[in-house]
Amino acid sequence: MIIAVDGPAAAGKGTIARALAAHFGYHFLDTGSLYRMVGLAVLRAGHDPHDRGSAIAAAAGLDPSNFTDGDLRNEAVGAAASIVAVIPEVRAALLDFQRGFARRLPGAVLDGRDIGTVVCPDADVKLFVTASADVRARRRQKELDADDFETVLQEIRERDLRDSQRAAAPLTAAADAVILDTSEMDVEEATAAAIAAVTAKRVF
Ligand code: DC
Repeated sequence: MIIAVDGPAAAGKGTIARALAAHFGYHFLDTGSLYRMVGLAVLRAGHDPHDRGSAIAAAAGLDPSNFTDGDLRNEAVGAAASIVAVIPEVRAALLDFQRGFARRLPGAVLDGRDIGTVVCPDADVKLFVTASADVRARRRQKELDADDFETVLQEIRERDLRDSQRAAAPLTAAADAVILDTSEMDVEEATAAAIAAVTAKRVF
């Protein structure tokens, strides 16, 4: 059983994917963390995330089973992740691990940008979790305890643009994805809607 949860930054897909995994007793993988690990490694090496060679080397040398670094959630690391994620060789280096994880029994929930389209096009259930840029920026502002809403909104917009306009595996809903717009929902409502969508689609 493979559940793909895709969507833009701060739409709530991580929370929803985690809740689905807990509810159905499946494994959970936050694939954004893999790209964040590559971005963090490049920054720590003192390089620019646009430096292709450095990003490709970091992706090749990654231990994907170990992502506990406290700095992974920083906004600077998120932005670096989005930049290295444009590079096809970086994406290719992370693919086998994600596909191997998806095959874990009794099932797996993966969240990201291209799970339903590229990593697991045959996923049993695909959710595309989204929300308006304003709502996502408010949530991210709260999460980061940031002062300036406009700065956070600007970062969200830049990330949306980069993630959806890149040539390799851009952020887009799979044709067979269930779209879940969480703009008007709180966490409980969004989680309940996701569980209902999976239950309705689940193949027994
Ligand atoms: O979900 P996140 O914010 O932690 O992801 C960070 C960046 O990683 C995101 O802006 C784009 C990239 N990413 C990706 O390209 N493909 C994925 N499956 C997951 C994340």
